[in-house]
Amino acid sequence: MVEPVVEIHLGRAWIDQALRADVAQGLVSQPKELPPKWFYDDRGSELFDQITRLPDYYPTRREREILEREMEVIAERSGADTVVELGSGTSEKTRIVLDALRATGRLRRYVPFDNSEATLRNAAAELAAAYEGLAVHGVVGDFEHHLGHIPDGGCRLVMLLGGTIGNFPPASRKDFLAAVANAMAPGDTFLLGFDLVKDLDRLIAAYDDPEGVTAAFNRNVLSVINNRLGADFDLGQFEHEARFNAEEEWVEMWLRSRCAQRVTINGLGMTVDFAQGERVRTEVSAKFRSENIGPELAGVGLTMERLWTDAQDDYALTLSRMVG
Ligand code: AVJ
Repeated sequence: MVEPVVEIHLGRAWIDQALRADVAQGLVSQPKELPPKWFYDDRGSELFDQITRLPDYYPTRREREILEREMEVIAERSGADTVVELGSGTSEKTRIVLDALRATGRLRRYVPFDNSEATLRNAAAELAAAYEGLAVHGVVGDFEHHLGHIPDGGCRLVMLLGGTIGNFPPASRKDFLAAVANAMAPGDTFLLGFDLVKDLDRLIAAYDDPEGVTAAFNRNVLSVINNRLGADFDLGQFEHEARFNAEEEWVEMWLRSRCAQRVTINGLGMTVDFAQGERVRTEVSAKFRSENIGPELAGVGLTMERLWTDAQDDYALTLSRMVG
C-alpha cells in the first residue's frame, strides 16, 4: 500500500476564525443567517450520513443510479488518471468512480478534498488500502479558499457530487465554479452532480423527514456554536423548518425560535436576542433546470459534453471539459 499524503490548510485557528466571523456577522444580519458548512462536525457528518439513507432523501440514491449506469462511459471519455473529489466526505460513492478508472488501466491518483481532517484521513486510509498502488493525496481545505492547492499533474477528473453545488446561491456559485475552472488544466474534466426542480411535496419531504433526522441535523449547527464558541443555545427552543422558495428555486432550511429568548456567545462576548417566531436561515439548496447548466459552465470556460439524468428525472450529472 502507498501511504496516503494529507496536506492541511485548515488548522484549528483558521477554522475558529472563520466560524467566529460567520457567526458574528450572520447573527446580526436581517434575517439572521448561518452558513451550512458549519453543520458538519463529527455529529453533523453522522447525521448527514443518516439523511442520505432516509427513504424521502432521494438525491444520494439517484446519483448512485446514474454513476452505476454511466461511470464506464465517464471514465473512458475523461481519459483521466487522477480523480479529484471536492467535498469528498466519507467517499461513499468514490469506489464506483475508482473502479471504473481502474478498469481503463489509467488510474494512478486520488485527491480527496474536504474541510474535515478526521473524515478525510479515514477515507484516505481506507481507499489507499483498498486500491493497490493508488497514490492518495488528500487536501484539507475550504473550497472557497484553498482550491489552488489541488496538486497538478496528470489528467484529472474533478468531481463535485451530492448536489453540494446547490449550497451556493447564484452569485457565489459563479465565483466558486470560476475557482474550480481556474484549478483545472486544459483536458481536465469536471463531473458535477445537481438536484433538479420537481414536485413541491417531494422536495419538502426530502428536507423534512418524519423521523426528525434533518431537524436534528439543522439544529446541530447551534450545538457546533455552543461547543466551539461557548454559546448557550437551547436546541429544544428552535424548530426546524424547510420551505421551497419558488422565485429562487431553492429549498431553504430555517430554525425558528419558539419563544423570545436571549442567547449568550461567550467566545464572541456577545448576546443575541430572538423574538418569538424569529428565524435563522441555515441553508439554501438550489434546484436546477437541466437547460441552464451548460451556459453556467460555459461562463467559466467549461464545455459541457454530456448530461445524464436518472430514470425519474430527479437528479442530473454533467461531464464538462476545460478547453485549452
Ligand atoms: C449536502 C448540500 C447536498 O442540500 O441536499 C441534506 C445537505 N441539507 N438535508 C442538500 C442537506 C438537508 C445537502 N447537500
